[in-house]
Amino acid sequence: MKLYRAKDYYDMSRKAANIISAQVIMKPNCVLGLATGSTPVGIYKQLVEWYNKGDLDFSQVKTANLDEYKGLARDNDQSYYHFMHENLFRHVNIKEINTNIPDGTEPDAQKEAARYEEAIQNLGGIDLQLLGLGHNGHIGFNEPSDIFPKDTHIVDLQESTIEANKRFFKSIDEVPRQAYTMGIGTIMRAKKILLVVSGGDKADILQKAIKGPVTPRVPASILQLHPDVIIVADEAALSKF
Ligand code: GLP
Repeated sequence: MKLYRAKDYYDMSRKAANIISAQVIMKPNCVLGLATGSTPVGIYKQLVEWYNKGDLDFSQVKTANLDEYKGLARDNDQSYYHFMHENLFRHVNIKEINTNIPDGTEPDAQKEAARYEEAIQNLGGIDLQLLGLGHNGHIGFNEPSDIFPKDTHIVDLQESTIEANKRFFKSIDEVPRQAYTMGIGTIMRAKKILLVVSGGDKADILQKAIKGPVTPRVPASILQLHPDVIIVADEAALSKF
């Protein structure tokens, strides 16, 4: 694991955006695994800025998102489809056909999970997977559990996750209770992983994930076993190191 210390959120976003840019420049037809949540917003903003300056070309880039709420349609402003379009896709020259996000409206969960896993395989795997870190150690929506789920699957969100994500919804009742997520196996098959973490409220869980035992109780701890992980975290998130 390589750990890069950033001064603050802005610095973290620029460092992480630089790593993603390097990937796109070195392999213009790369497959990027993308994440949502508040942490990557600054990264996407920076990538859009560099795209507008003519420094980046997304015309051959393919993407696969980590997760999507079950039951939310694409036009719901809290769907991850909407998030990705608002924060990145509609601002750059990526082709819609090259973007992949689980379909939250597919009622047959097994079918959608299998379709999505196969879609990622058909892309030839993920070159660089961007990850945020949940307060309970989740990556994607892989919540703490007794096992590391292998492939894309449907999950029941934990109360703490529903609570953490309610800030994006009008009320807690509107937060979906289920989501599709890449499995831990799907994530671990990415050639390179970029974990971004910001803020003092993540300091404890980041410390557990990197220094603690590898356990499905802290899903992100599995990253200790991946051969190529880069962590970019700000000083507040690294305050327990
Ligand atoms: C969300 C997402 C994750 C994200 C995490 C942290 O629920 N499913 O992919 O990394 O929780 O979110 P944030 O960056 O807003 O703290």
